Amino acid sequence: MTSLWKLGPTVPLGSPFHPGARHDVVVIGAGLTGLSTAVMLSDAGLDVLVIDAGDVASLATGANTGKLSLLQGSRLAEIRRHHAASLVKAYVDANREGMDWLLGFAQHAGVPFVRRTDHSFAQSRAGIDAVHAQYAAAREAGLPARMQTAPELDTPFPASAAVALDDQATIDPVVVTQALARQLLASGGTLHDRVRATGARVLPEPRVETTLGPLFARDIVLATGTPILDRGLYFAKVRGLRSYCVSFRVPSSSLEGTFISVDGPTRSIRPVADDDGPAASADLVVGGNGHPVGRSDGETAAIDDLVAWTRQHFPDAEETHRWSAQDYESHNLVPFVGALPRGLGRIRFATGYAKWGLTNAPAAALRLTAEILGTRRRDRPSWMTTIGTRLTVPADLARGAAEGGRVAAAAASGWADAERHPVPVPRPAEGEGVVANRGLRPVAISTVDGVTRAVDAVCPHLGGVLDWNDAECTWDCPLHASRFAPDGRRLEGPAVRDLRRLG
Ligand SMILES: Cc1cc2nc3c(=O)[nH]c(=O)nc-3n(C[C@H](O)[C@H](O)[C@H](O)COP(=O)(O)OP(=O)(O)OC[C@H]3O[C@@H](n4cnc5c(N)ncnc54)[C@H](O)[C@@H]3O)c2cc1C
Ligand code: FES
Repeated sequence: MTSLWKLGPTVPLGSPFHPGARHDVVVIGAGLTGLSTAVMLSDAGLDVLVIDAGDVASLATGANTGKLSLLQGSRLAEIRRHHAASLVKAYVDANREGMDWLLGFAQHAGVPFVRRTDHSFAQSRAGIDAVHAQYAAAREAGLPARMQTAPELDTPFPASAAVALDDQATIDPVVVTQALARQLLASGGTLHDRVRATGARVLPEPRVETTLGPLFARDIVLATGTPILDRGLYFAKVRGLRSYCVSFRVPSSSLEGTFISVDGPTRSIRPVADDDGPAASADLVVGGNGHPVGRSDGETAAIDDLVAWTRQHFPDAEETHRWSAQDYESHNLVPFVGALPRGLGRIRFATGYAKWGLTNAPAAALRLTAEILGTRRRDRPSWMTTIGTRLTVPADLARGAAEGGRVAAAAASGWADAERHPVPVPRPAEGEGVVANRGLRPVAISTVDGVTRAVDAVCPHLGGVLDWNDAECTWDCPLHASRFAPDGRRLEGPAVRDLRRLG
C-alpha cells in the first residue's frame, strides 16, 4: 500500500550523523510538526537538527488527504459541545494562523496549492442536525460559513445538506513537507533520516538517545505523532485512529470542492489538481472508515468498502493507489502542545490533531517556537493563551475514562484470545497472522511474501497483545497504537523498541 503523494523523489540529505553532536534544538520527527518547527526556529537563528526513524513525511504527513480547512467536518461543533465558545474561536484562530503560515511558505517555495470550497455534509437526513450544529459553531467562531441544500450541492454522491466554507485549500502534503526539509537544510539546519530516538532526558543535561548514539541540545521537541516518552502519560490521553484512503482516475469527474461527511461511515472526498506534481496521476482521493488502531477485524474490508462506494457514485472510477495512516485525537478534543511534565521546560511535544494536522501542525509549531524563543506572553497571539490555559472539563475526564475502559478491555481480550490458540498452530496462509499461546506467552506468527515468522506478540511499550492488520500486514497494538512489521521492526507509536524475534 503506497500513498499517492509518495510517488516523487525523496530529499537528498547529505551530512553524516555525528554521535555526541550538540545543537540548540533537536527535533524528533520529520513530519509536518517537526519540520515546520525546525524551519521556524532555524529562521530565528537557532542551530536545529531533525532526526526521523523513517524519512521525510514517512507517516501521517505523507499519507493524508491533503486538505487545509478551518471547517474540519464536525470538529468545531464537537469542541463547542464540551467547551466555551472562546475556546472554539481560539482553535479556529490557531488553525487560521497555521494555514496562513503553511500556504505562505508554499507560495514562497513554489509549491502549488488550490483554493477550494470545503463542505461538511450530511449523507442522509439523520446527519442534518449535525450539519446545523457545525454551522452554528462555525458562525459563532467568526467563520463566514453558509448552509447549502441538496439541489445546490448537486454532488454525484448522496448529500442532504452541507455547511460550506470558501477559500480553503488542497495541497500535495509530501511536496510541501519536502520543501520544508530543503528550506531547513538551506538555512544551515541538519536532517538525518533512519535514526530512531529511543529516549530523552534533561539531567545532567538535555540529551536524546538514538540508535546511532546520543545527541545534546538545549531544547528537545518530540514531533513523533504520539509522544515517545511516557512522562505525563500523554500516550494514554490520546487515541490513535487508523483510516484509509484510495485514489482514483475518474475521467468524468468535475468535482471542484472538498467534502467530508458529518455522519457515518466517514466519507472524505478531495479532487486532485493537474499541477499536483507526481500525484496528478489521479483525479480524486476518497478517505474514511477509520477505527482505533488494532481494534478492527477487517482492515482490507474497510478499504474495499471505500472502493465500492466510490464506484457506485463515480461509475468510471479506476483505482490507482490505496493506503492508510493514523493520527491521534486528544481526550479534550484540542491538541496537546507544550512542555512535558518533569522535563524542566526543556522537552516539548505536540499531538492530538484528530486528522486535521495540516493546519494544526504549523499552529503547534508557532506555539512551540514562541515558547522556545521565550516570546513574552503579551507578545503572543491571544489564541495561544486561551488554548494554553484551557481547563479540563468533566466531559474530557469522561471521554478519557471511557477510552481507558476500552484499553483495559482490549488488554484483557488480547491475552484471552491468545490462550485459545495453543501452539502448534497451522502455518498462517499468505498475508495472514495469528497470535498463539506458547507456554503462557503470546507469540505472533505471520506469513508474508512466502516467509513465515514468529515474533513476541507482547508490545514492548506496556504489554498490549498485538493484533494482525490484514491490509498492511503489520502487528498493531490495540492499547496505544504502536505498530510493528512482520519481522518485529517498530514502525510507529509510543513503543521505541522492536519486537523480539522468535524464529
Ligand atoms: C488518513 C488520514 C487523512 C488525513 N487527512 C488530513 C487532511 O486532509 N487534512 C489535515 O489537515 N490533516 C489530515 N490528516 C492529519 C495529518 O496527516 C496529521 O495530523 C499530521 O500529518 C501529523 O503530523 P506530525 O508531524 O505531527 O506527525 P507524523 O506525520 O506522524 O510525523 C511523525 C514523525 O515522527 C517520526 N518518529 C516517530 N517516532 C520516532 C522516533 N522514536 N525516532 C525518530 N523519529 C520518530 C516518524 O517517522 C514520523 O515521520 C490525516 C490523517 C490521516 C491518518
Ligand atoms: S502501545 Fe502501549 S502497550 Fe502497545
